[in-house]
Amino acid sequence: MRIKNWDFALLGLGSLVLFGLTVGRDTNREWKKYQKRYYQMEYSQAMARGGKGPMEPLRYKINQIMIPGTDIVDRCTTCHLGFDNTEAGFEDNPYKAHPNPYQHPPEDFGCPICHGGQGLATTVADAHGERENWQYPILKSDYVQASCSKCHQDQELIKDAPLLLKGKELFAQYECLGCHSLRGEGEKDAPDLTNEGDKKRHEFDFGKYDSPKLTQADWQFMHLKDPQVFNPDSEMPNLGLSDEEAKALTIYVLSLTEKETPETLIYAKKP
Ligand code: HEC
Ligand code: HEC
Ligand code: HEC
Ligand code: HEC
Repeated sequence: MRIKNWDFALLGLGSLVLFGLTVGRDTNREWKKYQKRYYQMEYSQAMARGGKGPMEPLRYKINQIMIPGTDIVDRCTTCHLGFDNTEAGFEDNPYKAHPNPYQHPPEDFGCPICHGGQGLATTVADAHGERENWQYPILKSDYVQASCSKCHQDQELIKDAPLLLKGKELFAQYECLGCHSLRGEGEKDAPDLTNEGDKKRHEFDFGKYDSPKLTQADWQFMHLKDPQVFNPDSEMPNLGLSDEEAKALTIYVLSLTEKETPETLIYAKKP
């Protein structure tokens, strides 16, 4: 009889320990660190401005956006809390306010539609796709203009996506279609570029530079600067591009896609 009670006691103790471990792991979730820091920053700012009394207590929460009319779900704003807090002037990511936050409100667009990445993830490495098995790592500030033409015509982008338009110009100027083909135009002496921007990371050979930190954008930039960098036998000529030109061309090449954009998100100028 006594022994049996011990069994129960041990079992009880065991589940308590397991429960404790689960709770422990849960309170240590990476994203909570960012929410806590953001709260502290807002708090000290409120105090410095002579705020009265404490703000509402911190409540940890996974922020999830479901984009109407699509199957896109993302949790990026779980960490990127300052997205539209343009007043605070926080200087570091993920707390920084977004450039032009109101042009594409997160509740209508989310983040991956422009930046890529893994919407549902809640760790930095997973969300940003800095993992070998994730094929579309985020497009950082430098290259994110590659997304604009999914939804906009050139003439709407003259001011806001200058590098994308520059890339398109350079593509014509350097006569890339003298070897490549694009949507049925050009020559067949080099790979077709119609869906170059859709290619997965594992479809690129990074040669001796292989690392999960390198993205499609890095491959394109390095290859345009020096076509023999990954494959010494490449027959693409070195065009002597400047960094600025290679960056613009990278953005243009990454913008080439055959994927359909959900119709409800495409920009249609209001009459
Ligand atoms: C767990 C927290 C977390 C989540 C979730 C998260 N981020 Fe971030 N993000 C960060 C941190 C921290 C930085 C700054 C350090 C860095 O760049 O890695 C950052 C930086 C960035 C940058 C700036 C990179 C640059 O150098 O231009 C972009 C863009 C970005 N995140 C996009 C996203 C997108 C898109 C998602 C959702 C798919 C996302 N993030 C989800 C924490 C997060
Ligand atoms: C319409 C496209 C678009 C959407 C949607 C979008 N971004 Fe951006 N994002 C940009 C552009 C463009 C830049 C670069 C602006 C620049 O540096 O000129 C940028 C830059 C950033 C940066 C770097 C800012 C810096 O100065 O360091 C972060 C972080 C970021 N975005 C996160 C997000 C998050 C989080 C979301 C979703 C809530 C999001 N973005 C949604 C286009 C977009
Ligand atoms: C998924 C589709 C989509 C993508 C990608 C996208 N946009 Fe937009 N954009 C829109 C829509 C739709 C609107 C209109 C939003 C509204 O009025 O509510 C808009 C509005 C704008 C506006 C304001 C124009 C106006 O008439 O008020 C500018 C500027 C703009 N986008 C530039 C960009 C740039 C630059 C990029 C790339 C970094 C980009 N967009 C990426 C769909 C998109
Ligand atoms: C003289 C012919 C020639 C010209 C001109 C040329 N390329 Fe290439 N390109 C090639 C060949 C051959 C390859 C395949 C070998 C390699 O990957 O380097 C290639 C590969 C590429 C790839 C990689 C395609 C893939 O996914 O495998 C891209 C992107 C590219 N070129 C872009 C450009 C751009 C942009 C220009 C103009 C600035 C250009 N090329 C001009 C011959 C050319």
